[in-house]
Amino acid sequence: MFQHISVLLNETIEGLNIKEDGIYVDCTLGGGGHSEQILKRLTTGHLYCFDQDLTAIEAAQKRLSLVSDHFTIIHANFVHLKEELHQLGVDKVDGFVFDLGVSSPQFDDGERGFSYNYDARLDMRMNQQQSLSAYEIVNTYSYQELVKILFKYADEKFAKQIARAIERHRMDQPIETTFELVDIIKEAIPAPARRKGGHPAKRTFQALRIAVNDELNVFDKALNDALSMLRLHGRIAVITFHSLEDKICKYTFQQVTKEPDVPFNIPVVPEYLKPRFKKITRKAIVASEKELEDNHRSHSAKLRIVERIYEDEKG
Ligand SMILES: C[S@@+](CC[C@H](N)C(=O)[O-])C[C@H]1O[C@@H](n2cnc3c(N)ncnc32)[C@H](O)[C@@H]1O
Repeated sequence: MFQHISVLLNETIEGLNIKEDGIYVDCTLGGGGHSEQILKRLTTGHLYCFDQDLTAIEAAQKRLSLVSDHFTIIHANFVHLKEELHQLGVDKVDGFVFDLGVSSPQFDDGERGFSYNYDARLDMRMNQQQSLSAYEIVNTYSYQELVKILFKYADEKFAKQIARAIERHRMDQPIETTFELVDIIKEAIPAPARRKGGHPAKRTFQALRIAVNDELNVFDKALNDALSMLRLHGRIAVITFHSLEDKICKYTFQQVTKEPDVPFNIPVVPEYLKPRFKKITRKAIVASEKELEDNHRSHSAKLRIVERIYEDEKG
């Protein structure tokens, strides 16, 4: 049973301003919660859904089929969205959704190795066909590479201590499981620090997951490709779950919506300098009190939306 409670569902769907004959793309199908609501609002329109996880696709396929057949599921990383959509004859899109990160079933499936709460082989691949897994990173990356990953992707204060402990342990035998890694992390972090700020392995696991799935680079590229494919008045809604993802989204939206610096002696802003997009959310939307109570995943969620307001060859 694939159970994932969609985050900021109403806010996202309302924010997309869906047209019944529009072309929509859900870049992160997951359990199909956002897709289902989009599909319900389409008559002659079509929905394209991406996910790199076959388990998610199987479950969502069934759920969406109960609504209509106006959808196509693409088993691919959304980093390839432009090529994949072009191949299907889609060049312009009325709305994109990115609901980043992993789904609850991925996280709660002990076998996938995403969680420090379940003992499993170190894995963390969203795409089960990918070769790089957390096992390779933990057992083959150099001390410097490990420190860099832990600093860059999780701001881990004890990055050096943890990397050193990993190096020491893997000299005897490979580190195979999540629980072995959790013990190594606990040992590396000084006792007083271990007792505050949540689970001691939280940051290391976040950093490894981002590295395994190259999450930040992939999102950055896909977001820019989505902007370039957006039709006039089309919108992009992005839900992020940690500050690094949100930074990319905020910065990108800032860049494409910013008013140009026009010299004061030029009274009218030339067309080619005008921003192509406007922000629909001035500040990120966060979960309501009710949603925070009902779904713990919503605590770190932030929703940002932009709309294309000008279309020309500049993109
Ligand atoms: C948070 S869940 C989406 C949940 C969905 N919105 C719902 O309401 O059920 C994120 C999903 O996106 C997928 N995903 C994350 N990054 C991806 C990427 N780069 N390419 C394709 N799918 C990705 C994950 O496999 C996961 O199934």
